[in-house]
Amino acid sequence: MTYGPHQINTPVVALALCGYAAAQDFGVPLSWRKFSNTRPLNERISIAQAAIDAILPQLNTATAEFNGIGFWQSGNVCEWLSFSSAVTWLKYDTPKFNDDAMWWATAAVYAHRAYGDPAMLSHAVDTWNHVSTFAITPAQASAGRHPAKSFTLAGTCDGKSMAGGVFWRPTADDQGVNSVTTGLYLTLSAFLAEITGDQKYTNAAIQSANWMRSLNINSKNLALDTVNAHDCSRSPDSWIFTYNSGKLIEGLSVLSHVTGDNQWDTLMGNVLIASTKGAPWQGSNGVITEGSSPNSNNDGVGFKSVLIRGLHEAFERSPNNALRILVHSYVDVQYNALLDLAANGSTYSSSWAGPPQGFTTWGQLAALDVMTSAINAN
Ligand SMILES: *[C@@H]1O[C@H](CO)[C@@H](O)[C@H](O)[C@H]1NC(C)=O
Repeated sequence: MTYGPHQINTPVVALALCGYAAAQDFGVPLSWRKFSNTRPLNERISIAQAAIDAILPQLNTATAEFNGIGFWQSGNVCEWLSFSSAVTWLKYDTPKFNDDAMWWATAAVYAHRAYGDPAMLSHAVDTWNHVSTFAITPAQASAGRHPAKSFTLAGTCDGKSMAGGVFWRPTADDQGVNSVTTGLYLTLSAFLAEITGDQKYTNAAIQSANWMRSLNINSKNLALDTVNAHDCSRSPDSWIFTYNSGKLIEGLSVLSHVTGDNQWDTLMGNVLIASTKGAPWQGSNGVITEGSSPNSNNDGVGFKSVLIRGLHEAFERSPNNALRILVHSYVDVQYNALLDLAANGSTYSSSWAGPPQGFTTWGQLAALDVMTSAINAN
């Protein structure tokens, strides 16, 4: 059961051209736990500030990494610490994973957005140039070879071109093309297109968006994980993670803004509805339970904050009031869960449904996006 605005926002013309379902149901499920907020702005700001202050002592300023969490998660947290001195920490030389390089590059884009620092933009561009050598072009797909890879490339999988997919790892024999790497590349490309106006970034973003749409979204509009670019084998259907859909939502909302092309907005809306209402990472109360790990860090803990960030970007950019109400309500569900069920002072468990516990770096990091999103989304 749902309440709230139900809107048909796909014009008939676009429907005929694109073939998407016309009705997008952005209604908020009544079964969700506490989907509104009563705290005034100044209180929400102090709550977020206290949450950020609690993680700062864990920062190792020599390496720009945080004690107790992994390298990609450090890139992730630095998006919230995007002040100028961060430039000295950024990782220019690509590590073993292309997604790691782009977590840091995306942090640089956020820092550029906040402070206009040109060094941040150069870092993002350098990373884009580097990772672009691991994206699959239409010519490489047709030729069945990729210059960075030692195996025969499957030019199509399931009858769809592999162009636009991005390899997860630089290693010559690693065959995986996945959603997070391709979604990060889509997002980084779209941001750079917006900042520079250079069409090459727009084209790259469109190509990766097409790859996601045609090859790595399931019938419920949730992002799948990995396609093998040699034999087209796939990760299990059950590998449905918040961050894969989260990065897709973020990238599509920027791309939609850059191109003004309604097909990306429609696709973004479909993935957003599925991610907030039809997802396996929560029960009927709406509280995200993915990556609940009281005793040890694991990558999955940081995934859910990436979904919240993507939803926040969509909220900021979308003119669709029904979409904005849905995101606002979903963020408030997580916010109220963290504050009511998972808080110990200003520190938060990675288990958003509780119980509270002592401070962990990974739990604190995962909570930051909710705290900061709740400032704006209310
Ligand atoms: C709250 O955090 C403190 C400090 O880390 C810890 O000693 C305490 O056990 C925590 N309380 C609960 C209820 O988990």
